[in-house]
Amino acid sequence: MAVVQWDDKYSVGLSAMDNDHKQLFSILDSLYGMMADDVNDQEINTIIQALLDYTHYHFSEEENVMQKMQYPELAQHQELHKKFIAQLEVYQQEATSEGMAIFVAVKIANTGSQWLKDHILVVDRKYQKFMEKQAS
Ligand SMILES: [Fe+2]
Repeated sequence: MAVVQWDDKYSVGLSAMDNDHKQLFSILDSLYGMMADDVNDQEINTIIQALLDYTHYHFSEEENVMQKMQYPELAQHQELHKKFIAQLEVYQQEATSEGMAIFVAVKIANTGSQWLKDHILVVDRKYQKFMEKQAS
């Protein structure tokens, strides 16, 4: 069973964004899976890279959505995205040290999944509210 997974309560009312979030949860969950599996550092680093790539992709998609709806808090939101990417890059660097990859993978899974949950429920929810207000 997945350790971290998307749930209806994380819906932001846009299926494309929900699908991206599901994928992010799934990548984070596969980092937890590394603990149980017999994997080498290179395999772990590949997943960390996949997480970074998908996070970049998703943030730019989400920023486009916010731009299209002329969301007034876009700049602040972008700033939070940038900080998260920067943190992931620090972890990625740490993971390249000999024998550290599995520990960093677990750290990313823990802190990343917590960040994502909080971010969706508090920060992404704000653009959802704005969008719903515009539509009503
Ligand atoms: Fe976001």
